[in-house]
Amino acid sequence: MMKLMLLFLTLNLQLVTGAPEQVHLAFYNTPWDISVSWITFEESDAVLTFGTSASNFVNKTGNTTSWEFGGIIRHSHVVILDNLKPSTLYYYKIADRQFSFRTLTADLTSYKVCVFGDLGVFNGRSTQSIINNGIAGKFDFIVHIGDLAYDLHSNNGKLGDQYMNLLEPVISKIPYMVIAGNHENDGKNFTNFKNRFTMPQNGGKDNQFYSIDIGPVHWTGLSTEYYGFVEDYGNASIFTQFNWLKNDLEKANSNRGNVPWITLFQHRPFYCSVELAADCTLYENVVLRHGALGLPGLEPEYIQNSVDIGFAGHMHAYERMWPVANMKYYHGKEAYHNPVAPVYILTGSAVS
Ligand SMILES: [Fe+2]
Repeated sequence: MMKLMLLFLTLNLQLVTGAPEQVHLAFYNTPWDISVSWITFEESDAVLTFGTSASNFVNKTGNTTSWEFGGIIRHSHVVILDNLKPSTLYYYKIADRQFSFRTLTADLTSYKVCVFGDLGVFNGRSTQSIINNGIAGKFDFIVHIGDLAYDLHSNNGKLGDQYMNLLEPVISKIPYMVIAGNHENDGKNFTNFKNRFTMPQNGGKDNQFYSIDIGPVHWTGLSTEYYGFVEDYGNASIFTQFNWLKNDLEKANSNRGNVPWITLFQHRPFYCSVELAADCTLYENVVLRHGALGLPGLEPEYIQNSVDIGFAGHMHAYERMWPVANMKYYHGKEAYHNPVAPVYILTGSAVS
């Protein structure tokens, strides 16, 4: 009897650990290409079935990356669903779990985005609201500008698993775009962040920096953590990202006729007026803006290419700046009408 029970427990455990979990979507290289990512704790194939109705489901295979962190091996699977039709409800099934999502409308002239930074498992005061509103269709995708889970790597990554499962009801339904914050440094060069997500591939190819055009907006995501952890990982990535950004913004700026807006998102802000954080006059903010010790700052590229909006988190507050460049603010009633400098929005208050 005891042997039978043990056998049952073992089988049951295998079923649980082999099941797909942490299922989530992201835009791949265009709004019509969606990456579907999930994790298993047992080896399995990156394969799903999808279609617009049960009668036309087809198989689609992808890639698997097996990675170790804290003694635990996780298998990250990704399948790219490309050339999707606009305004279409798609169903997809991974093993015996079925999900669905709706693509954006063809003209892309109107869509809603939920942008926030700094959301964890504990004290995640916005979590339920984000899940409920996302499922209800109140926004079309999410941009999470760093500091996820607090932390993805805690407890050998189990907190990251818990976080991704917690958000699965919404991020399996609408794209979840991410960039890294300081809390994504897991001591292993962002292993958890690199292996858990699949962002657009036109930048660093490891989720750290990328851009995508979605309708009238060019969205560019950057890592401020190359600066924050330069002593741990060296400065090569700062230059790689900077050179890529220069090119990305110049191209976007010359394509205003087709895509009139440029929006940046990054974790650490250039500017803020949060009292307890020294008003973003800290060395880290100055380096980001203007550079130091031979490292290139980012703000001149924003100014030169007339970036419209810059989102940041890190400070647990919401603030909207006047248009600002080189520490100079442009006040006044008309300041937001064709502003002469980027407008920054600090939105790091998802957690409290
Ligand atoms: Fe942070």
